Amino acid sequence: MSLSRLKTQRLFRQQCYVNGQWIDAGNGNTVDVDNPADGKVFGTVPSLSEEEILGAIDAAEQGFQVWRKKTAQERADLLMRWYDLMLEHKEDIATLMTLEQGKPLVESRGEVDYAASFIRWFAEEARRVYGETIPGAKPGQHIVVTRQPIGVTAAITPWNFPAAMITRKAGAALAAGCSMIVKPANATPYTALALAELADEAGIPAGVFNVVTGKSSMIGETLTGSAIVRKMSFTGSTEVGSKLMAQCAEHIQKVSLELGGNAPFIVFDDADVERAVEGAMICKFRNTGQTCVCANRFLVQSGIHDKFISRLAEAMGKLKVGDGFEEGVTQSALINHAAVEKVKRHYDDAIDKGARHVAGPAPDGKQGNYVTPVLVTDVTADMEVCADETFGPLAAVIKFDTEEQALKIANDTPYGLAAYFYSRDIHRVWRVADALEAGIIGVNEGAVSNPTAPFGGVKASGLGREGSRHGLDEYTELKYLCMGAE
Ligand code: SIN
Repeated sequence: MSLSRLKTQRLFRQQCYVNGQWIDAGNGNTVDVDNPADGKVFGTVPSLSEEEILGAIDAAEQGFQVWRKKTAQERADLLMRWYDLMLEHKEDIATLMTLEQGKPLVESRGEVDYAASFIRWFAEEARRVYGETIPGAKPGQHIVVTRQPIGVTAAITPWNFPAAMITRKAGAALAAGCSMIVKPANATPYTALALAELADEAGIPAGVFNVVTGKSSMIGETLTGSAIVRKMSFTGSTEVGSKLMAQCAEHIQKVSLELGGNAPFIVFDDADVERAVEGAMICKFRNTGQTCVCANRFLVQSGIHDKFISRLAEAMGKLKVGDGFEEGVTQSALINHAAVEKVKRHYDDAIDKGARHVAGPAPDGKQGNYVTPVLVTDVTADMEVCADETFGPLAAVIKFDTEEQALKIANDTPYGLAAYFYSRDIHRVWRVADALEAGIIGVNEGAVSNPTAPFGGVKASGLGREGSRHGLDEYTELKYLCMGAE
């Protein structure tokens, strides 16, 4: 059993972390957690009651009062300690992640680095929460603007990046002086709880970072229904994000949302085809196609189309499917069987409507949670794969003739998280980058995620930005002091 690989067994926590204490649900209710590789339950976490979530909110309020009084340097030092501990325990966190999420161990290790990098980035930014001074409107008057922590914050995080989607919210919140309650996805709570154990060990005061588990809808309603919680940050589906946003209206909670995408990946005739294939592979197949910024639609210009397809098929043939703990595996189990069924549905629908099967076995839904990467071409706008993100290893290619056509197809979606294109024409690069409707544009680049850059979408893909110096803005309020003349 992979749990026996843990060097530090206490990182496998099956309780919630609230107010610096490890707690069970008072009524003993639990939620099962399984391993997507074999579907077997290997642990449980508490299913907290509404009263217990309200208790966590009170604890976070007390934590906030302690934390806000620390100097920026003190907060930065504690965050750096947390960062160091994450790296020290990288192998164990990665093991828990692969166990509950399924991703290949090498990707889990990469995610721990990625997750920790947000803590480091925001530890550094903590000392740069600057205000400003503005010339007064009257003689002798001074206007001073300060930035204050928003207060108690909440984060509801997804299963696809069980560590990084927490740290890019919590890093910013804690650096700004806020406290936070995290509700991780029920499929992947153990990574979150291991991070809580390390936060505790780092010396982050009780109540500042809390992790609760249980029924998602009830926890979401309780967090948004509280006037104490001043900010909600959510990563997940547009459907749930929209509901949470409506719930946040009651107490005018600040909200940031990182929601679904439908990323186009455009390859123009003047692209460097080898680089485009390299970018396509990382962009499409990272996390077995389960990222919000995954290429969902490849748009390839007619002059380069056949060459790109043959190179992409060749590269896809080198991917290895299997249990995330197996050496050399690059494509692991999807999170659950519904995810497998979705890939199959998109594939079947595309083939029924005239797409051409090029490489990889047709998904039949009979390999447990595994799907071998599959490539289809001659994809058209009426196919489901064009309207909805597949979140799995299906590469769907649309052929186009002109730049104008490509832009029209690329922007023909309610979503706008990421978009990618490959071209060596500098004039086209600026034109297309300006015209694409997305918050993140990869220009001759398929890997766009990094803590120094503002991550977030436009249209139905969300609100607000995470990472970069802008990530801190989400957790601060401006306060303006009008200093009157004598
Ligand atoms: C996501 O899939 O939501 C995030 C992906 C990333 O940070 O790269």
